[in-house]
Amino acid sequence: MNAYETCLTQLRAAPKKWLVTGVAGFIGSNLLQALLENGQHVVGLDNFSTGHQHNLDEVQTLVGPQAWQRFQFIRGDIVDLDTCQKACENIDYVLHNAALGSVPRSLKEPLVTHAANINGMLNMLVAARDAGVPRFVYAASSSTYGDHPALPKVEDTIGKPLSPYAVTKYVNELYADIFARCYGLQSIGLRYFNVFGPRQDPNGAYAAVIPLWLKALLTQTPLTINGDGETSRDFCYVKNVVQVNLLAATVQNKDSANQIYNVAVGDRTTLNQLFILLRDALAPTHPHVANATPNHAPLRAGDVRHSQADIDKAKTLLGYQPTHNVHQGIAEAIGWYANHLLR
Ligand SMILES: NC(=O)c1ccc[n+]([C@@H]2O[C@H](COP(=O)([O-])OP(=O)(O)OC[C@H]3O[C@@H](n4cnc5c(N)ncnc54)[C@H](O)[C@@H]3O)[C@@H](O)[C@H]2O)c1
Repeated sequence: MNAYETCLTQLRAAPKKWLVTGVAGFIGSNLLQALLENGQHVVGLDNFSTGHQHNLDEVQTLVGPQAWQRFQFIRGDIVDLDTCQKACENIDYVLHNAALGSVPRSLKEPLVTHAANINGMLNMLVAARDAGVPRFVYAASSSTYGDHPALPKVEDTIGKPLSPYAVTKYVNELYADIFARCYGLQSIGLRYFNVFGPRQDPNGAYAAVIPLWLKALLTQTPLTINGDGETSRDFCYVKNVVQVNLLAATVQNKDSANQIYNVAVGDRTTLNQLFILLRDALAPTHPHVANATPNHAPLRAGDVRHSQADIDKAKTLLGYQPTHNVHQGIAEAIGWYANHLLR
């Protein structure tokens, strides 16, 4: 058995109570699904600022009525300390994923991003500390590497942040570290690299590239690559992210706690390659996309040019073994995208 199989076996044998913040969002709802499918009890907190009731409804359908009884939803805002304190009562593991994502949003609305991402995280840390939560796992971000040119990215070498969003995610790491040093709150920060998969929102001004492009292809609307298309990313399928969250929450080795980990695959895909990959994945069922071509626009402010993770630390200290590369993730999720992106 690998580390993840062992982790799931132990959790099924002795179920725990988890708090997932941002539970109505993309990653949060995938965490919820995996936890309920494996017999866990889950409290979910969300204010629906970017998450959706339909994500929760979809998980309810997928897991069935019996498992759904193990879920308790709190509609509330992490900017409110009382709400965070109520949510943290009797929790074994916190998976803190509530935040306002998106670099462009943070450039346009730095105050709103700061409030959710920094004040909200600080409230969650205080609430988890006061409730005696044994382990606090939180979503950090690859944007913390900022302007550092080295590839692949290794956890202890970062540059200057390139956006307000990147600042907030770095501050999260600093606060988590201080709460470990000063109050003994065990935490693990997960620097996600461009996550994709079912339930990622294709709509709105700040949609992520994969659902945005797939929706454009399906609806035959113009699709734009910012820059020359040689910008690259380490696209990470959401099942890898679920795996590493559960490993991070449950790992026993003391050296593994109070650390930051890259969460990715360790590959690099350019936007030009991604476009062809998505077009080819849709073409067998949607022949109209076969000859689609993208437009090009200037590079966006705040974006880093290349991103690729070194994932050795998560492999060594957490037992992480990604199950899906970008091709396998797209192949698995393409049916979901085709069925859901047009609603
Ligand atoms: N998706 C990625 O590629 C990626 C990459 C790096 C880091 N992250 C981080 O992962 C986490 C989850 O991202 P996601 O892609 O699932 O985004 P998402 O927008 O789908 O989910 C975030 C959820 O948090 C909720 N939320 C936001 N502010 C809140 C508040 N003040 N109170 C309560 N709930 C609030 C939203 O309503 C939403 O449901 C975020 O912390 C994000 O910064 C994501």
